[in-house]
Amino acid sequence: MYDLVLKNGKVFLADRFVDLDLAISGEKIAAIGKNLSGARNINAANRWVLPGIIDAHTHFSLPFAGAVSADDFFTGTRAGAIGGVTTIIDFTAQQGEEGILAGLIRRKAQAAELAAIDYSFHACIGRFSEQVAAEMPQLLTQGLSSLKIFTAYGRSGLMQSDFNLLRIMKKCQEQGILLTVHAENGPLIDDLTAALSPEELIGIAALCKTRPVITEVEAIARVGAFARLTGCQTYIVHTSSGAGALTIASLRKNQTPIIGETCPQYLYLDDSLLQEPNGHYFSCCPPLRPVEEKAALWENLNNGNLAVIATDHCPFKRNDKDSWQKSISKLPMGLPGIETLVPLALQQNKGLPTATAIRALTENPARIFGIYPEKGCLLPGSDADVIIYDPHRDWEIDSTLLHMATDYSPYQGLQIRGINTMTISRGEVIYSEEDGWQGKKGRGRFLKRRPTDSYFFK
Ligand code: URP
Ligand code: ZN
Ligand code: ZN
Repeated sequence: MYDLVLKNGKVFLADRFVDLDLAISGEKIAAIGKNLSGARNINAANRWVLPGIIDAHTHFSLPFAGAVSADDFFTGTRAGAIGGVTTIIDFTAQQGEEGILAGLIRRKAQAAELAAIDYSFHACIGRFSEQVAAEMPQLLTQGLSSLKIFTAYGRSGLMQSDFNLLRIMKKCQEQGILLTVHAENGPLIDDLTAALSPEELIGIAALCKTRPVITEVEAIARVGAFARLTGCQTYIVHTSSGAGALTIASLRKNQTPIIGETCPQYLYLDDSLLQEPNGHYFSCCPPLRPVEEKAALWENLNNGNLAVIATDHCPFKRNDKDSWQKSISKLPMGLPGIETLVPLALQQNKGLPTATAIRALTENPARIFGIYPEKGCLLPGSDADVIIYDPHRDWEIDSTLLHMATDYSPYQGLQIRGINTMTISRGEVIYSEEDGWQGKKGRGRFLKRRPTDSYFFK
């Protein structure tokens, strides 16, 4: 007898739905078949049984422009789990002259106390130094198989020079570490900023003027050229523009080991929102793009050049954004999104095949970030991270009903079809529509990740 059986659901197996039961014993998926029965049986009829969703890009408790992102590892993972997320990958941060391992110890301690679902980190390089280079070989033994660098944010000391970028990429290639890149051209952004008059710099319009699509396209093309040169497996985070996606597509055609991620905000929202009276609530980097950029994002999700949908969840309260004094340099950048990720990605009205969307939330990030098949699929022996999703339910996004620690949603009023109804994390029901939140602070576990699956980089 199994501990828990999800009965009669449409179980997502790799690329299709099959009408079966899914059985769980302890923390693992035990069997998938017909007529299974358990100590507890849950009716999943007319609903999808999906692998728990992986959000590979979150920023909990991130200091930014004098504020700190509103969700910590507890509120953020709880909100995510209510929405269907069962694994997150956040970031470490360097302080002062230290290397990259000290930040890992700090972030692990924060998450161990608070996270309600399983987690890992991308090791973030701000200042590249001999110490960082010396510590890189230890990343894999610590269970981190990805690094994060920035080609912008020079004012915060995060931007890498091309020289250092090449050194980092060579080392990543040697050591089998995936390099994730925030790709915007920092010097070009600085130059466009310097070219604006003090009057032109007032207001949110300056965000798009100083960070136009070309700043992303150039950075992706340059990083891509280095990826081809060095053989470093490279992952572009938050690809925001169709032109950026097409740049990734053309690099991939030219044997470059590069792949992209995009986020719901770039798939659903556009820069017209920045013109509204509270346009600064929609501020993020890269900024929201002209509406015509969206089609190529959906298209390149469809053809696999963008393999992952993640959130870049970096929520601030309206109050935090309101203290910007009409200057984008004082504006905390980022949007809330972890709780609305799944329905936005799975909605059927955007032309993306359902299986492709599910894989962009599950199997693809699991393979790319080295946690497959524990996570990202429904196979006997995999962690029992499972959600029961009702694809038929119509609802409207209303921030007052969401659980993220912010007080607005950029998707307020959006009509949605489909909602998560139950979240199971390593065999434990941590959320259900009937009983609400049942998870616990600190029950999440640190995931030791392996090198990326090279399938995505052929
Ligand atoms: O605006 C954003 N995206 N804030 C979070 C930090 C980053 O660059 O991903
Ligand atoms: Zn970024
Ligand atoms: Zn980010």
